[in-house]
Amino acid sequence: MRVPITLTVNSVERRAEVEPRTLLVQYLRNELALTGAHIGCETSQCGACTVLMDGQAVKSCTILAVQADGSSVTTIEGLAPVGTLHPVQQAFWNEHGLQCGFCTPGMVLSTVALLVDDPDPSEESIRHELDGNICRCTGYHNIVRSVQTAAKSLAAGATPEPLLSRDPAQAR
Ligand code: FES
Ligand code: FES
Repeated sequence: MRVPITLTVNSVERRAEVEPRTLLVQYLRNELALTGAHIGCETSQCGACTVLMDGQAVKSCTILAVQADGSSVTTIEGLAPVGTLHPVQQAFWNEHGLQCGFCTPGMVLSTVALLVDDPDPSEESIRHELDGNICRCTGYHNIVRSVQTAAKSLAAGATPEPLLSRDPAQAR
């Protein structure tokens, strides 16, 4: 049995027929080739599969595709126009908030949602809000700095920056 769904993914309306057991992350990766939503555990532990659903950060391995019917989903691929970096992505770049990058899409999208709810979070709040996103590489220190830098950038009105014209000297 397959169930019809309609949802908006990265501002594009998508119609599909899916098996009721299909996870949202499987639909995004397998049907739409949006592989930025990573699968680390499939048990709601790691946060690598985090996407925005109607503006809320959700773990897409814990949601069935049919549950996302009618919603608006943003994956890391749709966070900023092609060829640009969202201010949160830019902050992770500038502050070395990643190493292998496996956790990064989830970290970035969780940060976007966090900063909508709390534009000027304390370090304690950042660590608390991101505790559903596991990073095996960085020790979290630079991730916290990235979130703090992103908060400042967004407060100053930053918008997505062209990736290719970014001054390499800004990278530290
Ligand atoms: Fe979804 Fe780990 S893959 S939380
Ligand atoms: Fe490797 Fe976070 S950068 S898991």
